Amino acid sequence: MKSFNYYQPTRLLFGAGRRAETGAAVREIADIVLFVVDPTLLKVAAARVAEVEESLAAAGVRYVRFSDVVPNPTLDSIQRGAELARKEGVKAVVGMGGGSAIDTAKAIAVAATHPGTAWDYLYFKKKPTSATLPIVAISTTSGTGTQTSKVSVFTNTAENCKSAMWNDNLLCRVAIVDPELMVSVPPRVTASTGFDIFTHTFESYINTGASEAVDSIALDAIVRVIRSLPVAVANGGNLAAREDLAWADTLAGQCLANVGTTLPHAAGQPISGHFPKVSHGESLAVIYPAFAEFTWRGAVAKFAKVARLFNPALAAASDEAAAASFPLEIEKFLKLIGLYCRLDDFGITPDDLAPILKHAMEFPDSQGNPVVPSEDDMRNIYLRSFRAA
Ligand SMILES: [Fe+2]
Repeated sequence: MKSFNYYQPTRLLFGAGRRAETGAAVREIADIVLFVVDPTLLKVAAARVAEVEESLAAAGVRYVRFSDVVPNPTLDSIQRGAELARKEGVKAVVGMGGGSAIDTAKAIAVAATHPGTAWDYLYFKKKPTSATLPIVAISTTSGTGTQTSKVSVFTNTAENCKSAMWNDNLLCRVAIVDPELMVSVPPRVTASTGFDIFTHTFESYINTGASEAVDSIALDAIVRVIRSLPVAVANGGNLAAREDLAWADTLAGQCLANVGTTLPHAAGQPISGHFPKVSHGESLAVIYPAFAEFTWRGAVAKFAKVARLFNPALAAASDEAAAASFPLEIEKFLKLIGLYCRLDDFGITPDDLAPILKHAMEFPDSQGNPVVPSEDDMRNIYLRSFRAA
C-alpha cells in the first residue's frame, strides 16, 4: 500500500433532530458568534432557523445574524460579513444553509482575522493562519461536503473569476448534519447538489493522488448516491434517502479534504464563473459525459468498478467493456435524476468558450486526472458538451 496523509478534526453531530444541540456545541467554543444564514431559509424554513437561534440563546451564546449570502458567494458579500464580524468582536462563525452559506462563513472567518481580502488567501496565494475564527457548519443540503472539507469556493465578480481557499484552518470545528433540515429541498436542487456528491467522491477515487483510505470512503458514498439520489429527487420527504445522501455528502467532504477533484471541477467552475445562473451541479453534469469519454482509458479498473455500481448487468463484461460504457451509464443516471443538460441549454455558444477555457486551464485540478488534458483536449471536451456535437 502506498503511504498517505489523512486529517479530519471536525466534531460531527449527525442525525435527525441534532440541530437542537447547536447551542451547547457552540458554547464550548464561543459566547458571541456571527450567524451566517442563507436568506432563502428565512423565507422557506423560518421555523428551523428560529429553532437554531433559540438553541444558541438558550445556551448563552450571543449571535449577530448575517443573511447577505448569495448563491455562488461573492467576495463583496464576504467582505461585508467580515466587517460586521470585526465590528461586533465575534469569536466564531456559525454557517447555516447549503454550500453558499457555509462557504461564506468560512471565508468570513479568514477575512475577519487577516489583512487584505479573502481573495488574497486563495489556495495558490497566501495561507490562512490559525488566527482564522473557529467555524461551525449546520448543513441544509447534501452536496458540497463543505462541512467536512477544507474548501471555501467564491467568486470575484470584478474579475469574473470563481476560485477557492483550501487550507486546514478552513476545516469546521463542529459540523451538525441533520437530515430533517434537507427534506424540503426542491427536486432540481436535490439533483444538482446530489450529483455534486457523486463528483467529489468519483473524482477523488480516480485521482492519481488517491489513497486506500479515501478509495473505500468514496465507494461507500457512491453506492449511497446511486441508490438514494433518484429516490430523494422523486420524493423529497423520504427521510431514509435524505439520511443516506447526508452521510454520502459528509464522506465526500472527507474525500475532498484528503484527495480532491479532477478535470470536471476545473472545467465546470469557470462555466458558473462566467454564467452564474448555471449551478455548480449543472456545470459538472454538462461536462461529465465528455470528460468520461476522454478519461476512462486512463483508469480502466476504476471506471469499470463504478460503471458496474450503476449497472450490475456489467458484472459479466470485461473491465475494458465496462469502463467504455461509463459515459453511457452516467448519461442514463443524469437523465434519471432530470439533470442531463448541454451547454446550449444555458444559452452558451462556442463563441463564449475562450475565457472559460483560459480559466479552466489555470485550475490545477486536471493535473490529478488519469489523463491530463492539453488545452486542445479541454476545448474538445467543451465542444463535445454542446447538443449538436
Ligand atoms: Fe463540487
